[in-house]
Amino acid sequence: MTGPEIQRGLEGVNVAATKLCSIDGRAGELIYAGYDIYDLAANATFEETAFLLWNLRLPNARELADLKALLIAERPLSDLNGALIPELAGHARPMRSLEICITALGALDPYSNDFSPAQLRWTAARLTARMPTVVSAFHRQRQGLDILPPRDDLGHAANFLWMLRGEEPGELEAHVFDVAMTLHAEHEMNASTFSALVTASTMSDMYSAIASAIGTLKGPLHGGANDRVFQMLDEIGEPANVEPHIEAMLARGERVMGIGHRVYKTTDPRAIILEQLGERLAEISPDRHYFDLSRQVRDYLAERLAGRPLYPNVDFFSASVYRMLGIPNDLYTPIFAVARIAGWSAHLLEQYADNRLIRPNAVYAGEKSRAYEPIEARGQGEASTPR
Ligand SMILES: CC(C)(COP(=O)(O)OP(=O)(O)OC[C@H]1O[C@@H](n2cnc3c(N)ncnc32)[C@H](O)[C@@H]1OP(=O)(O)O)[C@@H](O)C(=O)NCCC(=O)NCCS
Repeated sequence: MTGPEIQRGLEGVNVAATKLCSIDGRAGELIYAGYDIYDLAANATFEETAFLLWNLRLPNARELADLKALLIAERPLSDLNGALIPELAGHARPMRSLEICITALGALDPYSNDFSPAQLRWTAARLTARMPTVVSAFHRQRQGLDILPPRDDLGHAANFLWMLRGEEPGELEAHVFDVAMTLHAEHEMNASTFSALVTASTMSDMYSAIASAIGTLKGPLHGGANDRVFQMLDEIGEPANVEPHIEAMLARGERVMGIGHRVYKTTDPRAIILEQLGERLAEISPDRHYFDLSRQVRDYLAERLAGRPLYPNVDFFSASVYRMLGIPNDLYTPIFAVARIAGWSAHLLEQYADNRLIRPNAVYAGEKSRAYEPIEARGQGEASTPR
């Protein structure tokens, strides 16, 4: 029976116009607001990139200084988040905890339902400033370490590494993390951005929209893949195991994490940049093992999957780069969120400025024309097992 066509996974469906980002998946091209990702990675800081996404132009010196000052002012943990984190750190996973803390932040913001562009930009900056503090505080709490207050003398990326590790990052480490954040800041209409827009399209507030996005990013087919890449590398352990391990995965029909992409049909440009940065970091890192192993897996797969459009995506090298930065692997996905907040909120600015409720259709495929049967007519059945 043929019926209305369904685009499974919404593949190939255009749901919005955006001035933020364009991707040419065949050419491996990623552009933020007209600027090539290679240009931004080489020259822009994460703060400049966030401004670009929120304003569709690069800031002048004064605007950049003002944004940095606002981000610094909004870094410290709120009282409610400070009270929640000890409760969460003993039980919850980091992404769930981040989602809860963002919802809590919104609960106490009296301006959360002010949809004026100026207020929305302020909220975007506030969330961008606060998320690194929440993630690092959660981590230190669960480690039984003192929660470190943010440092005003450090930039966004360096301050995060400081709050997380309690050790000031070297110049190269801070640079690599700053670029990694820029690379993760925006990526057109991915699953988490879409879920943020669906929430916002009901005129729900930015905090709820970002909480939706965090919940969506959590899944292993999206942001959760970077953590799974690390777990895979850890299981592989050493170069001699690359071939048997990958072959066993493929034989079981499993997906190799960090490989493949809905849009890129060549190597993701972010993976190329991260590999280059990883090489620089590996020269000074005592912990380059996983980076080298990543390259061996990549090389093996290039031969094994030759002819199929399966190449490394952004998660593939971010795992070993974060490892060299001393970041625990279950924080890789929260860190993705800490960077992607810039793009999520920029898309929300576009959505609120020209909103229309997002409400697609479903094609009914169930039973038809059934008549209600009284309970006595449905039989006794078997005792159900309590869950
Ligand atoms: C990202 C991803 C979800 C895109 O999936 P998609 O566009 O829906 O592609 P499909 O699921 O239709 O896969 C197409 C084919 O490639 C295969 N494939 C896709 N990704 C694969 C992977 N990582 N390892 C092995 N095979 C893979 C599928 O099995 C499928 O094969 P088939 O045609 O023989 O059935 C998918 O590539 C994947 O699961 N990757 C691993 C997770 C990951 O790294 N996610 C981060 C994305 S940034």
